[in-house]
Amino acid sequence: MSFRALVLDQSDDGVHARVTTLDDAALPDGDVTVAVEWSSLNYKDGMILGGIGRLVRTYPHVPGVDLAGTVVASSSPAFAPGDRVVCTGFFVGERSWGGYAELARVRSEWLVKVPDSLTTRRTMEIGTAGLTAMLCVDALERAGVTPDDGPVLCTGAAGGVGTYAVHLLARLGYEVTASTGRPETEAYLRDLGAHAVIGRDEIGDLPAKPLLSERWAAAVDAVGGATLAHVVAETRYGGTVAACGNTAGNDLATSVLPFILRSVHLVGVDSVSVPAARRAPQWARLGELCDPERLADATTVIGLDDLPDAGVRILAGQVRGRILVDPAR
Ligand SMILES: NC(=O)c1ccc[n+]([C@@H]2O[C@H](COP(=O)([O-])OP(=O)(O)OC[C@H]3O[C@@H](n4cnc5c(N)ncnc54)[C@H](OP(=O)(O)O)[C@@H]3O)[C@@H](O)[C@H]2O)c1
Repeated sequence: MSFRALVLDQSDDGVHARVTTLDDAALPDGDVTVAVEWSSLNYKDGMILGGIGRLVRTYPHVPGVDLAGTVVASSSPAFAPGDRVVCTGFFVGERSWGGYAELARVRSEWLVKVPDSLTTRRTMEIGTAGLTAMLCVDALERAGVTPDDGPVLCTGAAGGVGTYAVHLLARLGYEVTASTGRPETEAYLRDLGAHAVIGRDEIGDLPAKPLLSERWAAAVDAVGGATLAHVVAETRYGGTVAACGNTAGNDLATSVLPFILRSVHLVGVDSVSVPAARRAPQWARLGELCDPERLADATTVIGLDDLPDAGVRILAGQVRGRILVDPAR
């Protein structure tokens, strides 16, 4: 069986993408073969498409950390042909071939059945970014944060994780403040459910002191770096910050004072290695909470040929919301 794929090759002058036709004999090992209906673009895909960060060690490589589609062959008792499945994380698209192809072969333990409340297309509109936002909301709830506690800040709000963090928290009744470096996205963020929108510059510098005036009951931070240090300094007594991203850097320059004087909780959130059993309820909840009408402007659809340009744009912070990838286009 032949199928279209975006393939990355490496040469002395970097990583190059080409869209080509492959034979299924080229697929990697795995016990489930999936006809990929949709994939998506995440920040990490931008890095992989640009050959940044040594995330991929072996070329030629088919990237795409997300995929959703229908099982066409399975030697796993857990999945049968015709099952609708979603696969995110587990280093798919990094260490093994991913979703930028019409066919993928993966390990059954990486797959989750698409809940009845979602289509394969909707799962990829949500993608790793939306699942991560859901896991951040779950982390806040586990820490005891409730809508009555006060404003919840979402940083990098116009990006993929931010879009879903704003939307999910608003749907759950939280008073959401969205922080963005793009003031032109204010109407978009308010449509998603943001109560207030602030500029990235308000929270983007290292805080002058480790404790600033208390503003946020909780936060979802997709930005990291100085922004995360600033957000921690402004978190109210007993508040919780769910940290999941590093678009502004990996360093965290803070002190123990917010933690020992204000009981601030800093919770790390990872979506890559979360076991599939923990993902299934999060996908079901995403199906219940997401309002497709309010998210209609959050998705742009592209084809395989458009991915290299889109990868450059996501790294430059120019993508609003989510990019859905149609591998047949
Ligand atoms: N922990 C996990 O498992 C996990 C999963 C998914 C993603 N992530 C991470 O989460 C982050 C967001 O991913 P994404 O897919 O949502 O990417 P994205 O769509 O590009 O969103 C990132 C947003 O961050 C803001 N931003 C970009 N550069 C910035 C800078 N230099 N300083 C401050 N803000 C900046 C922009 O939002 P505004 O224009 O609104 O300011 C941008 O839209 C990435 O670091 C990604 O690696 C982690």
